Amino acid sequence: MVLHSVRSLLASLLGLLALIAATGEETPPLGLVSVEHPASNPLTEAKRLLGEKLFFDKMLSRDGSISCATCHKPEEAFAEQGAVRSKGVDGKLGRRNTPSLFNVAFAKNLFFDGRSTSLEEQAWEPILAEDEMGNVSEEKVLERLRVSEAYRGLFKRAFGNDEPSKETVAKSLACFQRTLLSGSSAYDRWNAGKPALSEAAHEGYQLFIGRAQCWQCHPLNSEASVLMTDHSFHMTGVPISEVTDEPATDLGRFEVTEEPIDRLLFKTPSLRNVALTPPYMHDGSIATLKEVVEFYNVAEGAGEVLPLGLSEVEVDALVAFLESFTGERVSDFSKD
Ligand code: HEC
Ligand code: HEC
Repeated sequence: MVLHSVRSLLASLLGLLALIAATGEETPPLGLVSVEHPASNPLTEAKRLLGEKLFFDKMLSRDGSISCATCHKPEEAFAEQGAVRSKGVDGKLGRRNTPSLFNVAFAKNLFFDGRSTSLEEQAWEPILAEDEMGNVSEEKVLERLRVSEAYRGLFKRAFGNDEPSKETVAKSLACFQRTLLSGSSAYDRWNAGKPALSEAAHEGYQLFIGRAQCWQCHPLNSEASVLMTDHSFHMTGVPISEVTDEPATDLGRFEVTEEPIDRLLFKTPSLRNVALTPPYMHDGSIATLKEVVEFYNVAEGAGEVLPLGLSEVEVDALVAFLESFTGERVSDFSKD
């Protein structure tokens, strides 16, 4: 009798834990909020595992040479450090800098021009892009997955059907990416009342929310701004060449809306882990964080930003503050 009730207590505890794991109702890392998995694609462990396998699988590319992780390297905050632009199949250079996928669950617009609004919708873009994974059709990819021993049973476990489809590949990749969280940065700890900011970073914070006006597009301190972005599009004056010589070939948001007012507007990116993902801006044209701040400091007036007139010490303070956004869990992924 006693044994029985201990057993049933254990069983219900395990059930509860499984439910917590399945619904993702864990406490989010400090500074983040709970991830909202869409009702049409709830988090399950089988789906997450399948998505992880697909993310690291070079079989997804036309010639078996690259995976999502070739450009979004787990040990480099799911971006590619030092690469202005990443190389796809046949060494083809892409047109934009690779963003970090940490905390992408909270992004409202995907890509620098916001042409996708959900991870499910986004998933096939890199698989089919000629300068990324280079496949000529979805069917070719699905065919390879269908005959692969390595995937036998995995689609069935995740979706109850062993036949991989366009939809189930997208759903599992999306599900996996929504679990890539990184918070508990020095900034978050300080924000939660634990003193973890250097004096320079604290001075940088004051500039960020004050004279340097960064908060206008990179808001802090509200649930809506877990990513330090307004989720909108702005003209900062990059590419700088537009001001000086050649016309821009990347028109940013305009390419999606075709509204003249959107010409050269780009998405305000997340600033979490920004110190780990040089170079910067949609075209990777600025090599270091210090140069980004110097760029804002002497803004040419081509964009929405005005010159700031900060001293060298103030520039360094802003950089120290940006460095305080580096979160935890940035290096506990090691697969390729
Ligand atoms: C060849 C390099 C490369 C490969 C391979 C690649 N990506 Fe990307 N990824 C990029 C670049 C570059 C961008 C930015 C493109 C843009 O803004 O137009 C990007 C953007 C994204 C974004 C949007 C992030 C944001 O915050 O806007 C997601 C999500 C993403 N990739 C997921 C994936 C997945 C999933 C795969 C594999 C199926 C993949 N990527 C394969 C280079 C790559
Ligand atoms: C008018 C809106 C606006 C203001 C004000 C602004 N930013 Fe930005 N920020 C952006 C946009 C948009 C981008 C992306 C530009 C691009 O990709 O070409 C960006 C990019 C960045 C990046 C590069 C991120 C990456 O991963 O490439 C950093 C760092 C940054 N901003 C920091 C700051 C700081 C520090 C300030 C204050 C001095 C500031 N921003 C003020 C809109 C703004």
